[in-house]
Formats: sequence, structure tokens, C-alpha cells
Amino acid sequence: MRVIEENLFADLSSFLPLAALKTYDEYTFTHAINIAILTMAQAESLGVPKRMVHDFGVAGLLHDIGKTTVPEHILKKAGKLEPHEFEEMKKHPVNGSIMLLKNPEVPKLAAIVAYEHHLQYDLSGYPALPQKRPQHLCSMLTSISDFYDALRTNRPYSDAKPSEDILAMLEARIGVNHEERLARHFMALIRARTAA
Ligand SMILES: [Fe+2]
Ligand SMILES: [Fe+2]
Repeated sequence: MRVIEENLFADLSSFLPLAALKTYDEYTFTHAINIAILTMAQAESLGVPKRMVHDFGVAGLLHDIGKTTVPEHILKKAGKLEPHEFEEMKKHPVNGSIMLLKNPEVPKLAAIVAYEHHLQYDLSGYPALPQKRPQHLCSMLTSISDFYDALRTNRPYSDAKPSEDILAMLEARIGVNHEERLARHFMALIRARTAA
């Protein structure tokens, strides 16, 4: 939290969209803060330059901002989404990136990550890309943080899982949902923290 405060809340203008998210959905707001922390921790220990770590944090914080455009009854639904509801949910990356591009105060990286964070490593996710292309490092880190935090938290439709179980699930998804070196680095990072 101290890192967040020092690095991120210092430039408040970036967080105007986030305030909207807090009033809209408390879970998504807390999730946003967790993703910022986990993504900055990964970036820092991978040796990403400090100035960029800040932008990675902002991008992590705003990755789900497009959820403010998802109807509330879908966003807060306790239980599995119907196919047509999932189609609505799947619009949040594109809608989020458009929202962020309209705000000149927000680093461009945040719009990229909002757009890319559900692509998956093998691009089997969404949105569908017109052609295969590499994704930004920060999107891949955010996706790993996202996977971990979603399973680590109690949700209306699933209980929180133990950290080790999630890391095993992450390992099983290497090469499909997550890039190998980054996934293994994350596993080592979490294990070092839980052992400390
Ligand atoms: Fe998302
Ligand atoms: Fe997310």
C-alpha cells in the first residue's frame, strides 16, 4: 500500500476513472489495487526501469476500468454467466481502452493493457485480433496477476483457493495462458514472499 501511495496516488489525475469504479463495484476496485501491487512487484524484480514500473502500476490499476460499462446485474451476478451475459462482459477490454485513450493524463500503456489483458499468451482469449502479434510485457504480467488475484479472493461463485493450489494451476497453464519464464518468475516471487 505504501508503494501504491508513493508511486501512484501522487498523480491523482490518472485516477479519476478509478473513482468511478470504486462507487460502481467494490470488488473490482480492491482487485484493481491488488493487480497494481502484484504487477509492480513482478516488474520491479524483473528489472524493469523504475519510471516504467510506475506506468505498469497505473496500467494494472486501470486494467478493468471498462467494467464500468458492463451492466451491474451482470458484473455482480452470483453464479455462472449465461453466454449472452459473457458476451457483454467480454466487451470490457475494448471499452476500457477507448475510455483510457480519451484521457490524455493516463499513460498510453494503460490503454494497451486494458485492451490486451484477456488475450492469453496463445491469443485464444478476447478480443479476437485481426492477426497474430506479440503483446506487451505489462499485459502478460497483468494477466498473471489477474489470474492469481481472482482465485485468491472469495467471489460470489467460488471460494478463495490456497496460494500453492493457484501456483500449480498457473504452472499447468504455461504456454497456453501464460508465458513460461514470466509464470515461473511469478511463482518464485510468491513463494519467496510466503516463506518470508
Ligand atoms: Fe478484465
Ligand atoms: Fe481483472
